[in-house]
Amino acid sequence: MDYSGKIVVITGASSGIGEQSAEEFAKLHADVILISRNAEKLEEVAKRLSKYHTKVFVHPCDVSKKDQVDTMGKIILAKFGTVDVLVNNAGFGIHNTVNEITIEEMESQMMTNFFGMMYCIKVFLPKMLEQRSGHIVNVASVAGSIGIPGMASYCASKFAMLGFSESLSHELKGTGVGITVVSPIMVRTNFFNHKSFGSMPKYSSTSLSSKTVANAVVRAASSHRIEIVVPQFVRLAIWIKQTIPYLINPIIGGMFRKSMKSKAD
Ligand SMILES: NC(=O)c1ccc[n+]([C@@H]2O[C@H](COP(=O)([O-])OP(=O)(O)OC[C@H]3O[C@@H](n4cnc5c(N)ncnc54)[C@H](OP(=O)(O)O)[C@@H]3O)[C@@H](O)[C@H]2O)c1
Repeated sequence: MDYSGKIVVITGASSGIGEQSAEEFAKLHADVILISRNAEKLEEVAKRLSKYHTKVFVHPCDVSKKDQVDTMGKIILAKFGTVDVLVNNAGFGIHNTVNEITIEEMESQMMTNFFGMMYCIKVFLPKMLEQRSGHIVNVASVAGSIGIPGMASYCASKFAMLGFSESLSHELKGTGVGITVVSPIMVRTNFFNHKSFGSMPKYSSTSLSSKTVANAVVRAASSHRIEIVVPQFVRLAIWIKQTIPYLINPIIGGMFRKSMKSKAD
């Protein structure tokens, strides 16, 4: 697909999946707008993408702050006139038990991962509907379908993202605007550098590269599907958990004890 002349906004574009998605869209000739809190890192990404000779615009913004997202939306729409693809990818996780994590830590994950997505959609959706075209890609997680112990508030934010997206997809039928969720398993990014993960192993042999997930994000931007699970076979694990939870729950419980032990080591 050729994205020449198309405007792609990506949140969380200073690192990992967002950074790689920006590169994949730039390779397809899209003009990309990079959003995250860290202006310096965004400038570095923009510099790296200059070799693709598309327009790259950097806008520092904390998506958990409604006022900042409003301002960011106004600036982008005034400058570019429209947005063709919005990738809601900014997010993070804190690993701790519900008993030990603070309320503020729980709220912060919800504010970025869920409300940040909602603020961005509220800012760009009216223009997409007016032009009767556009696509929203929400980066959730398999943790949006399976509750992972030690990650309750993170899972809640991703379950919420999936439910919101499913509802919105019904509302968007026939409008020319689409929405697709990308739900990966573990990915080798800076996600696990958060101090709450302690000395837990960051990656397993099945961890994905950010390029694999970024390719799914690009596919999602022109997909009619509501959710793309990466890798696809993990959809089976989700189906098993939803259909026969009593078989999978002891395995998840075992994982929890193992992860808490390695965190303490
Ligand atoms: N890595 C995994 O195993 C995995 C698996 C499934 C889903 N995911 C999801 O994939 C998405 C991307 O994560 P990643 O793995 O690529 O991690 P990452 O390398 O840590 O990237 C996270 C990105 O989000 C940005 N960000 C965080 N809080 C923000 C805020 N309040 N406002 C704006 N930007 C913010 C960060 O930039 P700044 O610090 O510059 O703001 C960074 O660019 C997340 O939504 C995550 O939940 C990750």
